[in-house]
Amino acid sequence: MYKIISKKLVVPKEFDVWVEAPRVARHVKPGQFVIIRTNPQGERVPLTVADYDREKGLIRMIFQTVGKTTAEFADMNVGDCLTDILGPLGTPSEIKNYGTVLMVGGGVGIAALFPIIRALKEAGNKVYTILGGRTKDLVIMKEECEKYSDELLITTDDGSAGKKGVVTDAMVELAERGVKIDQSWAIGPSIMMKFASLKAKELDIPMFVSLNPIMIDGTGMCGGCRVTIHDQIRFACVDGPEFDGWGVNWNEFMNRMRQYKDEEKMSLEKYKA
Ligand code: FES
Repeated sequence: MYKIISKKLVVPKEFDVWVEAPRVARHVKPGQFVIIRTNPQGERVPLTVADYDREKGLIRMIFQTVGKTTAEFADMNVGDCLTDILGPLGTPSEIKNYGTVLMVGGGVGIAALFPIIRALKEAGNKVYTILGGRTKDLVIMKEECEKYSDELLITTDDGSAGKKGVVTDAMVELAERGVKIDQSWAIGPSIMMKFASLKAKELDIPMFVSLNPIMIDGTGMCGGCRVTIHDQIRFACVDGPEFDGWGVNWNEFMNRMRQYKDEEKMSLEKYKA
């Protein structure tokens, strides 16, 4: 169970793996995630499901090595097995025909955005996609996203692909061209989601963001994943991970994401030693 079927390095520190998980593959929907453990003593880490093959019973995860557990996962090879995969967890994305949708992705968040893009296209939406990264190589899944988008715009900080700039510049470009957006999503680094949400509010575009706070049980019991949305406490693992980007308390969210940075660093250094 949970055998790694394929593994490749997409960009430095980012891995694309397909794992056997038939039950998850049968039920997972766009927007949902799983919690994995690499070994029986291991910590539980939430990862989004980037794709799935229901017939073969496989799920695809694209993850970045940021701490000890993702480093352990990155060190595993084809044929090795994860101890467990809990899921699918979270509330699926609301897929329907909105009319025209805008999909904004950055970094490894593009992996979570991809199944939502595909489902929205299949539901009949006109899809505009903006992918951003620091450099060309960090903009992953371009061809896959392009396949299900009516138009794909790319921005890079250094101008090595697409337009030089950030995703919000491309949002403004679309608005200036008169493109009317009915609903949007932004998934990526917190700072990108924050500024995309602020821009969406300015442009009067509803926007969902997918929040990835620290999680433990993933079932609404521990409170570790709490976030504040429109001044109300919500649990990302059961009420989310998608929330109204206009209502997120971004300062609190980003502070909580940094809360265990020192411990995470220490744990990773100990693992590598
Ligand atoms: Fe425990 Fe969400 S992870 S309540």
